[in-house]
Amino acid sequence: MKIFSSVNDVKDIPALVGEALKLKKDPFAFQHLGKNKTLCLVFLNPSLRTRISTQKAALNLGMNVIVLNIDKEGWALELKDGAIMNGTTVEHIREAAGVMGEYSDIIGVRSFPGLKDREEDYSENIFNKFVEFCKVPVVSLESATRHPLQSLADLVTIEELKTVSRPKVVLTWAPHIKPLPQAVPNSFAEWMCKADVDFTIAHPAGYELCADFTNGATIIHNQDEAIRDADFIYVKNWSAYEPYGAVTSGNEGWMLTNEKLTQSPNAKVMHCLPVRRNLELSDEILDGPQSVVIHEAGNRVWAAQAVLKQMLEDL
Ligand code: CP
Repeated sequence: MKIFSSVNDVKDIPALVGEALKLKKDPFAFQHLGKNKTLCLVFLNPSLRTRISTQKAALNLGMNVIVLNIDKEGWALELKDGAIMNGTTVEHIREAAGVMGEYSDIIGVRSFPGLKDREEDYSENIFNKFVEFCKVPVVSLESATRHPLQSLADLVTIEELKTVSRPKVVLTWAPHIKPLPQAVPNSFAEWMCKADVDFTIAHPAGYELCADFTNGATIIHNQDEAIRDADFIYVKNWSAYEPYGAVTSGNEGWMLTNEKLTQSPNAKVMHCLPVRRNLELSDEILDGPQSVVIHEAGNRVWAAQAVLKQMLEDL
């Protein structure tokens, strides 16, 4: 594997999930693969889980890891080709990515969307420029439109905790005070549409995701109906795809509560985290027996390790 930016980069999804679960049982079995190899994790935006889980995954594989918070510690990056750099930007991504490639065997990049210009965000300009100029394998640590390491960890969690062979999985929109990217729901939808699950998306009218990611899903605007008898309920806020980045008021009732969960007593509640308590998800759910959010975050290590292992094997 040379690039991991979406489910489409995975040849065999069940095999990758199985690999992650095997690594969970025996984390240090492949330390020889990463010996004298360097992973550079480049963050243009904040992170807790992705940073630490990917770092731990690489250490488990015997790699050296360098983390650069390029937004705070690096030179201000210029992204536009042909720019006359007489403003605030100091280094062009062409040189920055090229130089990082000289120091690394694999690079990870996190870069959120601006949520102002849909065409620009959905072109994945920053991630693609890293791929083009660093000339080493690149793993997405969440890009403008997808969060594949999160989605793989989510699928690993579902596979591990399911009690029926084809579980009912529901992605439900949740309230928030800020416009958030569509990367997590896009990615989760794209992975679920290729997994052996019965997949439904529930959101208020106006929050339709780009159809490229949701083909094959059942989409409804009634949350109660969607979550009935669910095995897994994935809670996440996102801003509108059309008009891009918009947030409409009046959907506060979409926060999941224990009362709503009475319709799905066996459901496990998932969230990628960070979560705003009592806005996106109630305390009673997060602290209750149906929440698996910490377990899910723990699986980020094994998802990242499975991907890095494949990349190391293909170097
Ligand atoms: N879920 C997730 O990616 O968390 P971080 O933003 O903290 O990395």
